[in-house]
Amino acid sequence: MPNAPALQPPARVLLGPGPSNVHPRVLRAMSIPLIGHLDPEYLRIMDETRRLLQFVFQTRNDLTIPVSGTGSAGMEACMVNLLEPGDEAVVCVNGVFGTRMADIVERCGATLVRVEAPWGRVIEPADVTAALGRCRKPKLLGIVHAETSTGAWQPLEEIGRRAHDAGALFVVDTVTSLGGCPVRVDDWGIDACYSGTQKCLSCPPGLSPVTFGPRAMDILRTRKTKVQSWYLDLTMIEKYWGAERVYHHTAPISMNYALYEALRLIEEEGLEARWARHESNHHALKAGLAAIGLGLAAQENHQLWTLNSVRIPDAVDDAGVRTALLSAFNIEIGGGLGPLKGQVWRIGLMGESSTPANVLLVLSALERVLPGCGHAVEPGAAVAAAQRVYAAR
Ligand SMILES: Cc1ncc(COP(=O)(O)O)c(C=O)c1O
Repeated sequence: MPNAPALQPPARVLLGPGPSNVHPRVLRAMSIPLIGHLDPEYLRIMDETRRLLQFVFQTRNDLTIPVSGTGSAGMEACMVNLLEPGDEAVVCVNGVFGTRMADIVERCGATLVRVEAPWGRVIEPADVTAALGRCRKPKLLGIVHAETSTGAWQPLEEIGRRAHDAGALFVVDTVTSLGGCPVRVDDWGIDACYSGTQKCLSCPPGLSPVTFGPRAMDILRTRKTKVQSWYLDLTMIEKYWGAERVYHHTAPISMNYALYEALRLIEEEGLEARWARHESNHHALKAGLAAIGLGLAAQENHQLWTLNSVRIPDAVDDAGVRTALLSAFNIEIGGGLGPLKGQVWRIGLMGESSTPANVLLVLSALERVLPGCGHAVEPGAAVAAAQRVYAAR
């Protein structure tokens, strides 16, 4: 048997649903020497990471930490810590990630009440109220802020108020929104919130920032049963992050270095400026796509800046376009999931990947590739439309 070949992945422009491209400073941070996870210097890095996460989540919550594991670990951490067998939980389902949240709720032994909307549309507050009304004593309401499978951008504040009026905690998935558009945990009354590192925070996948507010902490502290998951038990993990510094599991040191540096980059850019960058690149992309006859699939006025779900015209070869973008231009975009498979492309503009250069690149690449895949376009039309958006801003 020959030895395994050296790693030689190509340099891609990552414009899919995540991961996004990573700043060289973040990659360098991952290669700095390890120290122990109880080293005083590492403890200082942890405290500073918490402060930076509080800043991106816009919260004063003490329990604001990166959970070890990808975004799904954050989702699971919220549910297993807040739910006990027999509880009732309302989950909003309008795409893959609401569906996943509902699955986790059932695995916790809770009674699930679903609120549904068609994929691509947002959840209506009246439907949430009706679902809460079907519960005896709802423990929490879970909802996805940015549904990566459809590109729908869910308004949160009104739904949060309705959850609280019914006595339920408000739990929000911000995996594809945190760092790319406003997320205001304290102002919006979010009780528990999780995200992922590989999207708008522009860090490799592997950590899931999570924050728990006072109401969620009360529920955690007054549980009658042990948290079902040992690894994700925040009652133990908080002792490592708190004054006691009790060992729970070995922290993924290099991943935490990467997150620290990624958060420093966000602090340097400023949250408002970062959100504005994501907004303008989305509008330029949308205008460029429209100029070559491509529309977005998500509900008008509720389209994410960070993930653009593009309707594939009839007779266009879905996989052919994605393969040509990858092989000829080194650009990754995503295909559709579930019922949207073959119906949409997903173009992510997240974190480091959200730049005018990438918008103009993907539009010109599409102009080049589409005619060979069944969709005639006027060369230059998409790029010109995007340029006009930038010029007007
Ligand atoms: C909205 C949303 N929630 C949860 C997840 C799960 O995150 P991960 O794949 O990092 O486990 C994703 C991943 O794409 C997501 O987009």
